Amino acid sequence: MKKRAFPKTKKLIVANWKMNPESFKEAKKIFDLLRKKKFNANKIVTVICPPYLFENELAKSYRSNKIKFGFQDVHFENDEKSTGEISTEMAKNSKVEYVLVGHSERRQIGETNEVISKKIKKCLDEKITPILCIGEDERHENGDYLNLIKEQIIESLSDIPKTRVHDVVIAYEPVWAVGKGKNSMDSHELHQMTIFIKKILVSLYGKKIAMELPILYGGSVDADNALELIKQGQVDGLLVGRSSLNSHVFGDILKNLS
Ligand code: PGA
Repeated sequence: MKKRAFPKTKKLIVANWKMNPESFKEAKKIFDLLRKKKFNANKIVTVICPPYLFENELAKSYRSNKIKFGFQDVHFENDEKSTGEISTEMAKNSKVEYVLVGHSERRQIGETNEVISKKIKKCLDEKITPILCIGEDERHENGDYLNLIKEQIIESLSDIPKTRVHDVVIAYEPVWAVGKGKNSMDSHELHQMTIFIKKILVSLYGKKIAMELPILYGGSVDADNALELIKQGQVDGLLVGRSSLNSHVFGDILKNLS
């Protein structure tokens, strides 16, 4: 079987900066402070996904064996008539190694599983690791959210053959735990979700492939809960929003995990 997206011995920590910060100067400051933080790169793969506008320049100065770069999204085709979009070819030429696909904030503005599936395929074509984001908006008592998660996984991976799925990373982000004023998910509940997601993957790709596919957690991760979410939740890494813009907090997350 082919190698998975990153080594099993490491955790993948992805920083999603979203539409922040407001200037390149501030973006540089985050990196300069983060560089002073000590963490063990043998145990962690760190990926920063800044806005496109800053990525190229930041990567020139800060890309290293400790810090990799990613995009927050890409377009699903390489059609030159796509105003405002960024292609996977551009991502590849910028040496971007990871791309977030189907983040809940993009799903909220109409991105469908069908489009997400095309984006994943395009990333794989360019040898970029897609991080497929899934997650329910709310938890209905009748368990309907489980069907939604199942549908998101099946439909978002519908264009991806069994032979290529080993390069995909899945990020489970319950939308109710994402953003300001929210709390992260309980780590034991997270463990139940990772089992549920694995079961779906087993039914799609068989045990051998499914058990190798990395699952990340995202939603109000901070320096206090990161280790527990990884250990109890049994996930392979974290997708970090707000806390990744604060170099001290993000540095502490990396330190605590290494
Ligand atoms: P948060 O965001 O860490 O600020 O909750 C996570 C995300 O949206 O990826």
